[in-house]
Amino acid sequence: MQIPFVDLKMQYASIKEEVLVEISQVLDGMQLFLGKNVRALESDYAAYCNTEFAIGVSSGTDALHIALRACGLGPGDEVITVSHTFIATVEAIILTGAKPVLIDIDPETYNMDPGQLEKAITPKTKAIIPVHIYGQPADMDPIIEIARAHNLKIIEDACQAHGAAYKGRRTGSMGDAGCFSFYFTKNLGAYGEGGIVTTSDPEIADRCRMARDHGQNAKYHHAMIGINGRLDEIQAAVLRIKLRHLDDWLEQRRLLAQTYNSSLYQDYIVPEEMPWAKHVYHLYVIRTPERDRLREYLESKGVASGMHYPIPVHLQKAWRACRGPELSLPVTEKITQEIISLPMYPELTIEEVDYVCNCVNEFNKSALGVDATK
Ligand SMILES: Cc1ncc(COP(=O)(O)O)c(C=O)c1O
Repeated sequence: MQIPFVDLKMQYASIKEEVLVEISQVLDGMQLFLGKNVRALESDYAAYCNTEFAIGVSSGTDALHIALRACGLGPGDEVITVSHTFIATVEAIILTGAKPVLIDIDPETYNMDPGQLEKAITPKTKAIIPVHIYGQPADMDPIIEIARAHNLKIIEDACQAHGAAYKGRRTGSMGDAGCFSFYFTKNLGAYGEGGIVTTSDPEIADRCRMARDHGQNAKYHHAMIGINGRLDEIQAAVLRIKLRHLDDWLEQRRLLAQTYNSSLYQDYIVPEEMPWAKHVYHLYVIRTPERDRLREYLESKGVASGMHYPIPVHLQKAWRACRGPELSLPVTEKITQEIISLPMYPELTIEEVDYVCNCVNEFNKSALGVDATK
């Protein structure tokens, strides 16, 4: 059996007719940017997240950059986030001229450890970016409490967590702004690049709208320095169709995750859904000290896997290049050696998950000589 890490062809086949009709209408109209599809997606997505506003932008990276700018972040400011994330979270901070301050994560959720926050706060701290990694929300209540006490903005990096919830609240609705990626492999993915910022603050929404379009508030009137961060109409039309299916696709991911959890041997550390969380399993990540050997074994059995992420930001060459300080983040450093992401997409069948589990368990038995049946 050959099992890819992600297969987008089946999903496309299920919505192909609708997608082609909508794309063709956009091309017939030749309004290619910031038109009626972007406006409709913005209102659909704001309703989905329970926020007042959503602002379509050109990627998750730009969503973060634009939201930070809109919240007034710039040179001289510090922003606290995690090292265990895709580098875009940190890049966006650096792009504004602010300084990223990286803290460690919780060993169970792999999200920001709120216990590390207070000691990272200085008089220059202006914002916190919790990252809802793999699709499980960070523990937001203590983060919100600390942010309020120190008058800090919260910008949620929800790029991996469309539709996830914390104590019933949707990701993207808990901070001052929420940032989502529509990278094509995300739970809600465009057929190209895209992203969106959610907020219920009218001033932040206005500034995001300006920042994504060169700071314009009217044609050739630039009220602030912005970027070219616009979302295009073709992507917005595709995303509107996909948004209608999102909840069904998320339920399927959750079912597959349960199947993995109940079939894998207990030697593996499987993801735990926190009592306060609705996890949407953008990635299904397990841990084993034998990660590299397991990956090779799975490859020999036709099963693709991934690592999200093998090198934390504070150990990247780019971090040193921009004079990031030397840091010791023990939890981050340990788990990045052990994490492996198994195939996860809504069209994966239970039989295929069973096959992956058999291979993973077989590795435990044959390669390691351990038979730790559940
Ligand atoms: C946690 C996180 N933040 C930010 C991004 C950046 O999103 P994009 O690739 O759309 O720029 C991603 C996407 O990979 C991500 O996973």
